[in-house]
Amino acid sequence: MTAEFVRLEVADGVGTIRLDRAKAMNAISIQVQDELALAAAEATDRSDVRAVVVWGGEKVFAAGNDVKEMADMSYTDMVDRVQKLQDAVNAVARIPKPVVAAVNGYALGGGCELALAADVRFAADNAVLGQPEVLLGIIPGAGGTQRLPRLVGPSKAKDLLYTGRFVKAEEALAIGLVDRVVPAADVYAEAVAWASKFATAAPYALRAIKETVDRGLEVDIETGLQVERHSFAAIFATGDSRTGMQSFIENGPGKATFEGR
Ligand code: CAA
Repeated sequence: MTAEFVRLEVADGVGTIRLDRAKAMNAISIQVQDELALAAAEATDRSDVRAVVVWGGEKVFAAGNDVKEMADMSYTDMVDRVQKLQDAVNAVARIPKPVVAAVNGYALGGGCELALAADVRFAADNAVLGQPEVLLGIIPGAGGTQRLPRLVGPSKAKDLLYTGRFVKAEEALAIGLVDRVVPAADVYAEAVAWASKFATAAPYALRAIKETVDRGLEVDIETGLQVERHSFAAIFATGDSRTGMQSFIENGPGKATFEGR
């Protein structure tokens, strides 16, 4: 099946998960959710993808889940669907490679939640983020009640979640909701430049860092440190750890050429 609204474009080690449903402001319909999960799985599986950019194009990141589609859904319809919605966003969060969201324009509701699933967020100076679900009489269902407070802290998250207000790029930067603000025309190129740094890096070390940080955030510090001990010892089984340390001894820091194994 050819995806209609979400595709993976790969160039020079960087995979771009491109949302492209311009007529509906990239609203994340059920079809978009399913295509997003497939694109994330492809980005995970392909060894020529070493880092990922999530991008909705120059005008809008995503204005949220498709309200027109959701409006007709019952409680039991949503019981049956919400796991798949979360699976799609989780599939992005669990890509075992560096992931950056490049946000132009609106990232609202499910769109903001998709951006939260990335490791870092670069925003255009015209970006507007928020969780306006409460204004629809509903709540976030794609991770917003969980990832937002973990990122910006519970009180700032509750302010945004309770009010549904829109946050402009400058405030988003100040509260840590985004990591970098750049001119709108540059946000995708900046994200690709960040992702490109990892095209020749040691992929299993990056993977272990991501898994260890993300697992550690969910558990007490002693358990997190135990996870780190296992990950640290395990990384010594990779060829790249041999190459990296030997290269340092022979040629100094930062000169290793990794084979990615
Ligand atoms: N779902 C479906 N359609 C949407 C949409 C959405 N989330 N957001 C925008 N659209 C549609 C509009 O209905 C409109 O369609 P028509 O041309 O057919 O009328 C078109 O996109 C353009 O939108 P506007 O005319 O409203 O454009 P605007 O520039 O005046 O406003 C906006 C843009 C501020 C993004 C506004 O459209 C808006 O507030 N959208 C809804 C945002 C929202 O509530 N998102 C949360 C959804 S719920 C959710 O995501 C649940 C979850 O946690 C998973």
